[in-house]
Amino acid sequence: MTVAVGIDKLGFYTPGLYLDMTDLAHARGAEPNKYLIGIGQSKQAVIPPTQDVVTMAANAAEQILTPATKAEISMVLFGTESGIDNSKATAVYLAHLLGLPSNTRAVEIKQACYGATAGLQLAADFVRARPTAKVLVIGADIARYGLRSAGEVTQGGGAVAMLVTANPRILALDAISSYHTADVMDFWRPTYRTEALVDGKYSTNVYLDFFQQVWDDYQAQTHRTIADFSAFVFHLPFTKMGRKGLRQILPTATSAQQATLTAAFEASQADNREVGNLYTGSLYLSLLSLLRHGNLQGGERLGLFSYGSGAEGEFFSGTVQPTFQQGFDEDFLANQLADRQAVSVAEYEEIYRAQLPNDSRDVQLAVGQETAPYYLAGRQHEQRQYRQQ
Ligand code: CAA
Repeated sequence: MTVAVGIDKLGFYTPGLYLDMTDLAHARGAEPNKYLIGIGQSKQAVIPPTQDVVTMAANAAEQILTPATKAEISMVLFGTESGIDNSKATAVYLAHLLGLPSNTRAVEIKQACYGATAGLQLAADFVRARPTAKVLVIGADIARYGLRSAGEVTQGGGAVAMLVTANPRILALDAISSYHTADVMDFWRPTYRTEALVDGKYSTNVYLDFFQQVWDDYQAQTHRTIADFSAFVFHLPFTKMGRKGLRQILPTATSAQQATLTAAFEASQADNREVGNLYTGSLYLSLLSLLRHGNLQGGERLGLFSYGSGAEGEFFSGTVQPTFQQGFDEDFLANQLADRQAVSVAEYEEIYRAQLPNDSRDVQLAVGQETAPYYLAGRQHEQRQYRQQ
C-alpha cells in the first residue's frame, strides 16, 4: 500500500496592524460596499518595515516546529514573489534563523502566486520517495500595488508555513493533479519595480479561464465530479475572485451540494477577508480558514485551485484527516487576528512609504513596537539585519 503524504501542520503569521476597508473607501471616494461586497474585503494587513518575507516566514514556521522536528527537516522550499535578493534564496536566510540542520536543501521558488503550490507538490513527491523525510514549505509575500491604484484594495501580506510528511495530520494529497501554463501578461513585476504591474480586469478573466481548464482536465483524468467534493478552496487575491470561480462550476451540482459548497466557501474566505492578498500563501490561508471555520469531517475530499499570474494554474485535491484539528494552533490563530490594531489611512500611507529604500544605504529601523519573535532591524553594508527576541 502506498503511504499517505500531505500537509501535517499549518502555521500562519501576519503582522499586528490592519487597515479597515471602510476607512480606505472613504479616503478614496469609493462606495464602501464596493470594497466590502464588490471586492469582498473587510480589512487589509499593513506590513511594517520591520517585517519582510523572511521574518514573516520564520514567525509562521516557529508556530509549527518543535526543536525535534527542526532537526528532522531535510528540505525548505520557499515560494515568494516579493523576495529580497535576486541571487540568494530566502530559504537560506530562513533555515539559518530557525536553526535547521546544515544538511538541509534550501531553495526559493518563483512563479507569482503559484510558488508555494510548486513547493508543496515537489515536497509531496520527495516524501513519497523518502517516507521518513520532512519538508518545510513556505508561501510568504507582501502584496503592494501602490497608493491610490485600482489594486490598492487587494493588497495585504503574511506567511504560511506547511510541514509536509508521510501520514499527515491535516490533508493527504491525491497524487493526480492537473496544471496549465501560458505566457500571459496579466500581472508582473520587473526587477526594477517595488510594485506590481497589473492588467486587473484581464487578470480576473485569465484566472477564471485557467480554473475552468484545470478543473475540466482534472475531471477527465480522475472521472471525479463536483459531487465528490465537500469544499473547493481557491487562491484568493480578493474573496470575490474565489466566489466567481465557485459560481462558474456550481450549476453542475444538486441544490443540496450547492448549499454545502457555498457554506464551505464562506468558511474558507473568512480569514482572507480580514488579511487581504498573501500572493503565494493565499490559497493556504484559505485552506486554514476552512479548517478553522468550516464543518469538515475526516475522509472528506477538498479541491484546491492555485493560480499564479503570468501564468500557471493547478487544480489538485486531498482528503481531510480525522486528526486535522491537531495540525494547527487555533488559540494562537484566533488571538493573532483579534489582537491586531487598526491604523488610520494616513498612518497606513506613512508605513507604506517607510519600507527599506530600494538602494544601498545603511538603515536603522525603529524596532520598539515589534513583538514578533523574528524581525528586521535594518540594513548594514547592503546586508539585512535579522533579529530574534
Ligand atoms: N456595492 C456592491 N458592489 C459594487 C459596488 C457597490 N456599491 N460598486 C462596485 N461594485 C462591484 C462591481 O460590480 C464589481 O463586481 P463584479 O466583479 O462582480 O462585476 C466589483 O465591485 C469590482 O468593481 P470594479 O470591477 O469596477 O473594480 P475595479 O475596476 O476597481 O478593479 C480589480 C477591481 C480589477 C480586481 C482591481 O482591484 C485589481 O486590479 N486588483 C489586482 C489584480 C487582481 O487581484 N487580480 C486577480 C486575478 S490575478 C491573481 O489572482 C494573482 C494575484 O494574486 C494578483
